[in-house]
Amino acid sequence: MISYSLKTMVAHKATKRGIMALSQHQSMPQASAQQPTVSDDEELSMQSISDRGNNRTLAPHSDSFKNFMTQGWDDEHSQVQPLPSSEWTPSRLATLGKRFIGERIVIPAGQLKARNNDCDYAFRPDTTFVYYTGLGEDFEPGAVLVLNPRMPQTTVTGTADPRHTQVESATHDAMLFVHPRADQSTQDYYRSAQFGEYWIGPRPGLQELHTMTGIATYDIASLRDVLSKDVGTEAHAVQLRVLRHADSEVTAMVDEIRQEAGLDDTAHNGAMDDRLYEFSAEQRMVKDSYEIGEMQRAVDATHEGFTRMLEALPRAIGVERGERILEGAFNANAREVGNDVGYGTIVASGAHAPILHWMRNNGTITNGDLLLIDAGVEVNSLYTADITRTFPVNGHFTPLQRKLYQAVLDAQQAGFEAAQPGATYHDIHFAVMRVLAEHLHAWGILPVSVEESLSPEGQQHRRWHACGCAHHLGLDVHDCAQARYESYQEGVIRPGMIFTIEPGLYFKENDLLVPQEYRGIGIRIEDDVLMTEQGPQWMSKAIPKEIDEVEAWMAQAAQA
Ligand code: GLY
Ligand code: MN
Ligand code: MN
Repeated sequence: MISYSLKTMVAHKATKRGIMALSQHQSMPQASAQQPTVSDDEELSMQSISDRGNNRTLAPHSDSFKNFMTQGWDDEHSQVQPLPSSEWTPSRLATLGKRFIGERIVIPAGQLKARNNDCDYAFRPDTTFVYYTGLGEDFEPGAVLVLNPRMPQTTVTGTADPRHTQVESATHDAMLFVHPRADQSTQDYYRSAQFGEYWIGPRPGLQELHTMTGIATYDIASLRDVLSKDVGTEAHAVQLRVLRHADSEVTAMVDEIRQEAGLDDTAHNGAMDDRLYEFSAEQRMVKDSYEIGEMQRAVDATHEGFTRMLEALPRAIGVERGERILEGAFNANAREVGNDVGYGTIVASGAHAPILHWMRNNGTITNGDLLLIDAGVEVNSLYTADITRTFPVNGHFTPLQRKLYQAVLDAQQAGFEAAQPGATYHDIHFAVMRVLAEHLHAWGILPVSVEESLSPEGQQHRRWHACGCAHHLGLDVHDCAQARYESYQEGVIRPGMIFTIEPGLYFKENDLLVPQEYRGIGIRIEDDVLMTEQGPQWMSKAIPKEIDEVEAWMAQAAQA
């Protein structure tokens, strides 16, 4: 990959400054007498690497080149339509605004992250930004959503955009700060590797992002002025809250503005910011109907991805790094039909299966073993599924595998039945754990009674199920993770919530407390559940999991 950017040009100037600074420093008397003298060549090589600039560019600088590059292009309009999510963001913003009346809320998308040097990871906007803007894959590095407080007496007329006229927050104006397009009329067109459309193709600017989201857009250059307006310590001054983790540059800007305005209690500021993060996580717990639709798409795409893996399984058995063959099949499908995988795909065969976060996926898949696969497609709107299935590699469960698998399936069903409207995550957990403890006891593995193991003082059964067995699911695989304990684990499960139920049994290869034949077996069955007024619904019920269904699915896929 080649690159030539505005950053590069700036770096060249910095290089000259760097050399001068270095020369001055070396002539200073406090340099150690022990230090060897520095030749001119060495002096050059002692420049800090960050001052050296891009050592690969041969980019032309002449004025005639600059003029030549901004002429003779036909317009390349970026064609965009309103996103379906834009019907839903006004009510989400209104809820957020009502919680933080009179305050300025700052929610960055985040920046591109370097993988190495000038090669970046694919951009995924921060989840909170996605939720409140409705933007999905790719959009938009460096953007910042601001909820600007309206004055209390202001009559609310709504914005010009009909999507926001009726339902936009009565308390705030939503403002989306973005980088303007670097199209062919600008020098950045060919100079900025990050935004220049010569490099990255047409991208949405202010007008396009307004069309997509329905939110009023502004040039990112004006962000600081807008953030700092009327911030202070006086009774009616504006307070700022920022989603701290999303973009360190924006967070630093907010902290600086606070300092300048006398709001210098960093612990207090941090606590205010935490409440914003917490509230937004709790707001996302109940999904609207748009989100439910996107989640179903993610589940269906994941079903397809599992079938692709089963089709690839025959050629993955017995070969080195066969687990990677399946990972590749799933991940390729995720890229084809969605944005990507929602988390690192786990393909864990044989003794890898009891390793909860096995993501190296470099094992050989062996005939006769079980194969645990935990994978989810993240669709373009960035909602993800989270599904686990456990397969007999050769297509048929042995009697022992069957017995253990059925126990996990029974535990999952118990969790599902416990998950009624008004129940809590605790209820799901205890229902699942009781079934697992009963089976472990019946098999002679549990060293204490079922009741003792289930008591807080016992918990011996958790040796074989140390992880959680249910979690919220949505834009993040472990969605709403910043919610308070009392609203998550102890919170009532309400219609619109989407969560997993994912019991398992994990017998490590070196577990001397279980019979030899159990060692190296790991089983998890994980499905995605939508709570409705009528009770829980399996969103992933089409993905086979009963023993006979799994065997039939494998047989069919093997013939594809
Ligand atoms: N795939 C992560 C989980 O199941 O929680
Ligand atoms: Mn899960
Ligand atoms: Mn999972």
